[in-house]
Amino acid sequence: MRNLHLLVAELDTMNLLTTKIDLDAIASNTRLLKELVGDTKLMAVVKADAYNHGVDKVAPVIAANGADAFGVATLAEAIQLRQLGIDKEVLCWIWTPEQDFRKAIDLNIDLAVISKEHAQALIDTDVPHIRVSVKVDTGLHRSGVDEAEWEEVFALLHAAPHIEVTGLFTHLARADEPEEPETDRQKEKFLQAVESARSVGLECPTNHMCNSPATLTRPDMHFQMVRPGLALYGLEPISGLDHGLKAAMSWVGKVSVVKQISAGQGTSYGLTWRAHDNGYVAVVPAGYADGMPRMAQEKFSVTINGVDYPQVGRVCMDQIVISLGDNPHGVAAGDEAVIFGNGGHSATEFADRLGTINYEVVCRPTGRTIREYI
Ligand SMILES: Cc1ncc(COP(=O)(O)O)c(C=O)c1O
Repeated sequence: MRNLHLLVAELDTMNLLTTKIDLDAIASNTRLLKELVGDTKLMAVVKADAYNHGVDKVAPVIAANGADAFGVATLAEAIQLRQLGIDKEVLCWIWTPEQDFRKAIDLNIDLAVISKEHAQALIDTDVPHIRVSVKVDTGLHRSGVDEAEWEEVFALLHAAPHIEVTGLFTHLARADEPEEPETDRQKEKFLQAVESARSVGLECPTNHMCNSPATLTRPDMHFQMVRPGLALYGLEPISGLDHGLKAAMSWVGKVSVVKQISAGQGTSYGLTWRAHDNGYVAVVPAGYADGMPRMAQEKFSVTINGVDYPQVGRVCMDQIVISLGDNPHGVAAGDEAVIFGNGGHSATEFADRLGTINYEVVCRPTGRTIREYI
């Protein structure tokens, strides 16, 4: 009888759908960003499992190639970084006063103050030292301390001897649209916030507002730190521009079967697509349970051995169907079908076809998708 543990470890190798993650690309993008910002600190955003690239493998590479700090959304993500041995500054910006946030404080994790209630919870916490960064709302109206409460919150934090305010940060609403004046407006508001914090006695040594698009296009807003995510993974944040980033993720499925279809026959549930001529279809095991949106039906193509083939018919839970025409290039079971990435369309092109953004597309692969690191 085989050891069940071994069998579980082997299960991954039996899946036919893979995200291939190029760690050299991530290293190169990190170095590119660090060189671009010079003496400014680089906070690498590795939330959402490093944008679904696998934080356990990705964070050490980013740390070794120039990141000075890490930014994450949740407490769990922050604590995971410490468990991975990351000893650099870590900032967490989504938490609630009801959570056990002291665990994070004990691990030297910086907490974002995103409201007066968050400030009060930290002020009331009986620990010797807490490092915080105040997230100020400068126009995104999502989370962050409202302008009307800036001064009160700054003063409350300043009066708490156990709280060290490392600085302020804010998040941009339209930095991916460089022609939009909103980014300049947010910059002005942010400068006002820093001035207001300093006027109540906070030093605010490290302030930051630049996500990927602003890091790449707005050196005047780098301040003491930048906070990019997307660009680290090699995805272009501004439509139509090319900053020389190297895409790290490819989503690839192995063709499970190639079969004939006759003119007039339909394929997949509902038989919504019917073959025009006699020909062949291929099946790729990427369904909506694996993150392929059902709404993607007939909006994209996959690339097999350098040739593009349209997806046809309904997206199922476990698979999609590809039309091969009369299969002039002899596509066969076992061939790799690139959904996006190396050897196929970029994640940005795939996103455009689906009417979404490359951020969402790289977060899609899930379910039976296994990761393979290059
Ligand atoms: C607060 C915050 N800062 C920085 C980032 C990184 O943004 P980007 O991936 O556009 O660089 C994000 C991601 O959405 C964020 O939520």
